[in-house]
Amino acid sequence: MRGMNGTQITITVLYCAVTAIGIIGLLAVLATTRRKARATAAAPSIDKMKRGENWWAIMTVVILVVLFVATFAGIPWLNRDKADSTVQVRALQFAFVLQPASVPTGTVDFEVKSDDVSHGFGLYDPDNKLVSQIQVLPKVTSTDTVKLTKPGTYVIRCLEFCGFNHHNMVGQFEVTQ
Ligand code: CUA
Repeated sequence: MRGMNGTQITITVLYCAVTAIGIIGLLAVLATTRRKARATAAAPSIDKMKRGENWWAIMTVVILVVLFVATFAGIPWLNRDKADSTVQVRALQFAFVLQPASVPTGTVDFEVKSDDVSHGFGLYDPDNKLVSQIQVLPKVTSTDTVKLTKPGTYVIRCLEFCGFNHHNMVGQFEVTQ
């Protein structure tokens, strides 16, 4: 679980739980059908099979509804952090123009818009580790909400091939204490 955040751990645990429930359910079905087949030599009645099928269909729906309701509050776009500051970013061949170019530590909304073609907005922390990245489209404002806790110089690199000078499309900003 090294490197996993809380959300990823929750999702992983939930997936394991659902898989385990599925396997237990499958084994239960196998056990009951085998036992019945052994017990009754005669052909099973259609009515009984129908009832069994309906029961499992209802159980499936119930399980899915319960999972949906239980996980609804965890949907990421319902839990967006409220930003402490906002940075307007213009992406253009071949630069990033940031306004302002310095923000205090905290949650930052990067409102990114391209003047020309599609670009990539790749945010790197002072250790040169990719923190976040979004696609930038012409004339559309895309918001990247990022929690920045480490002060220092952050670098933005274009991560979408956008022309002959794409590799030089770099911007930077400061995060202050
Ligand atoms: Cu902009 Cu590559």
